[in-house]
Amino acid sequence: MSLENPRRLYPAFILLGAAVCILVAAAYYRDEFRQWKDIQRQFIREEMRRASTPQQRLLARNIPVQIRQVVLPELRRVDRCTTCHMAVEDPSYGGFPQPLAYHPLHDQHPFERFGCTVCHRGQGHATTTADAHGHVPYWDQPMLPLRYIQASCGQCHEAADNPAAPELARGEQVFESNGCRGCHKLGGVGGVIGPELDRVGGRRSADWLMAHFRSPASVTPDSAMPPQKFSQADLEAITLFMLSQTGASMTGFYTSMKVVPSAAQGRHLFQQKGCIGCHSLGGKGGSIGPALDDVGMRRAPEWIMRHFRDPQSVTPGSVMPKFGFNESEVLALTEFLLHLRDQNLALSLPSLMSPVERGKEIFRKFGCAGCHGQDGKGGVPNPNAKTGEQVPALLHVADGYTREELVKFITMGRHQVDALDAKRPAPPLYMPAWGAVIEPAEMADLASYIFSLKPKGDDLGF
Ligand code: HEC
Ligand code: HEC
Ligand code: HEC
Ligand code: HEC
Ligand code: HEC
Ligand code: HEC
Repeated sequence: MSLENPRRLYPAFILLGAAVCILVAAAYYRDEFRQWKDIQRQFIREEMRRASTPQQRLLARNIPVQIRQVVLPELRRVDRCTTCHMAVEDPSYGGFPQPLAYHPLHDQHPFERFGCTVCHRGQGHATTTADAHGHVPYWDQPMLPLRYIQASCGQCHEAADNPAAPELARGEQVFESNGCRGCHKLGGVGGVIGPELDRVGGRRSADWLMAHFRSPASVTPDSAMPPQKFSQADLEAITLFMLSQTGASMTGFYTSMKVVPSAAQGRHLFQQKGCIGCHSLGGKGGSIGPALDDVGMRRAPEWIMRHFRDPQSVTPGSVMPKFGFNESEVLALTEFLLHLRDQNLALSLPSLMSPVERGKEIFRKFGCAGCHGQDGKGGVPNPNAKTGEQVPALLHVADGYTREELVKFITMGRHQVDALDAKRPAPPLYMPAWGAVIEPAEMADLASYIFSLKPKGDDLGF
């Protein structure tokens, strides 16, 4: 090309210049009208509206429009949620439309130490709503729907020991009493027929879990997991409990409150301190002090707490020791005594349980019910069994086995199947060998329990 007449290029330069101008303007426009900036301006307008003195108005006007973030090195997170959720710590914004509403419960979890995503999940560093809430492809942590938010509490608190997370506690209860451990390991304890569940909350969504519980084979063809017949409330609770299993590991500070003062901790103290030596519950225990079954009716909570701090201060001359409990322990014991009626005493006091009661507990703990049904009553289908039967009920084991034969059978199991090959159809359920996990003393109790399942009056029939 010749440079003799550069003027011929002018129109091209003008066009190019115009294009750059448009791009710059567009970028500026996009930046200036980002959603979070709108939200921050809305917040500033609201602050101006509320200002009643010139100084306050000046302060409000000078609130900078900028990204806000909480840096959480110990949690390896940077949360920018407060870029939009600006008023989370200001109670005067209670009930304000989102995202500018005040957040309840933050005094227990100051946001500068906890941020937001440790409870809500979502994408902490994002600054658009869809990205932040994690509803985008390639982000594996979508925000937890609020109705499952208690799933997050279990990372730092013991499920059963946090009165502020009742749904989580219920989920754990459903898990432990429906024999899931018969086939699944959680926290290292349980069978190997189904996958380990320690991280299942990270790989499965609430919808998947629900569908799977209703009908495992509908989402995993050929699944050997029996369909679960839960009430809607139990179904939501077990789903929540599964979502809580993320395998997240927390450092000391964050797990320092594993046990929130609760009835469960109180029950633990009650056993540990030997209260039962002087007091009875459910007709069992000592008689030096009064029976405690209905102490909640006789005494006000304040009285009980004062009494724990120093028995003599309310009952002069009392022989009950002053244990030197801290306030959290006083609260926990009081919770326990006030809620005795809601609790299963048989589970709470193992030393007083009969062999049959202990055996029942072992049956529950190892998840035998997952295959043999609640109380060994059967009714669990055995998918892929050639004859299409069910796993046997255990009601009549007493007729077919001696105690020694029974213990031997449970110890050895039957039809052990080796590593499952994913490409082949799932094998039928088999009876696992329990010798490696159940202690000999526990075996004896378990056998007593299984023999006790035989319906009463059965022998009179013939
Ligand atoms: C770009 C602004 C923006 C950011 C950043 C943002 N949010 Fe939101 N958030 C909103 C808006 C707007 C709403 C209300 C409308 C809606 O629910 O989408 C909302 C609603 C919510 C709700 C209530 C949802 C419901 O179901 O009622 C929760 C919980 C929430 N946000 C959590 C978070 C968390 C956690 C983060 C950080 C990971 C975050 N948000 C970051 C704008 C934002
Ligand atoms: C300790 C766990 C925890 C942390 C940390 C936490 N939240 Fe929440 N958040 C909850 C719970 C629980 C609820 C449900 C409260 C309720 O329904 O009473 C909730 C509710 C919300 C809601 C909906 C409130 C409503 O009334 O609908 C929003 C929005 C929200 N959180 C945003 C945030 C933001 C932003 C942060 C960080 C600044 C944050 N949360 C930090 C546990 C937490
Ligand atoms: C990342 C860890 C973590 C998560 C997640 C978490 N907590 Fe906490 N929680 C703590 C810590 C640590 C404390 C003690 C805070 C302190 O003393 O500064 C605490 C304190 C509490 C307390 C006050 C206990 C007391 O007696 O003072 C309650 C109640 C509570 N949490 C309930 C919940 C609920 C409900 C959830 C789920 C929505 C939850 N927590 C999620 C770590 C956590
Ligand atoms: C008789 C054995 C058996 C029992 C009892 C059982 N499961 Fe399963 N479970 C399986 C098998 C096998 C799989 C793998 C095939 C599938 O996905 O359905 C499985 C899969 C799962 C999965 C999906 C895991 C993943 O990572 O994909 C979850 C979640 C689950 N089970 C939870 C439970 C819960 C909770 C209970 C108790 C209510 C329970 N299971 C009882 C055998 C069982
Ligand atoms: C050495 C025996 C002894 C031990 C151990 C003991 N107590 Fe007592 N307790 C008593 C006696 C005696 C009384 C009745 C006098 C009084 O009110 O202090 C009593 C009273 C009580 C009361 C009030 C009952 C009422 O109806 O007025 C409560 C509650 C109580 N004890 C709980 C406990 C708990 C919980 C423990 C274990 C942490 C415990 N005690 C350990 C002897 C004991
Ligand atoms: C994964 C499913 C599964 C689990 C979990 C399981 N069983 Fe079994 N069990 C079976 C099957 C299948 C049989 C039938 C075995 C056969 O006869 O081939 C069986 C048989 C038995 C029998 C013999 C019944 C009879 O009538 O001969 C006893 C007793 C028994 N199981 C006890 C237990 C106990 C106790 C536990 C818990 C520690 C347990 N099982 C856990 C699947 C299971």
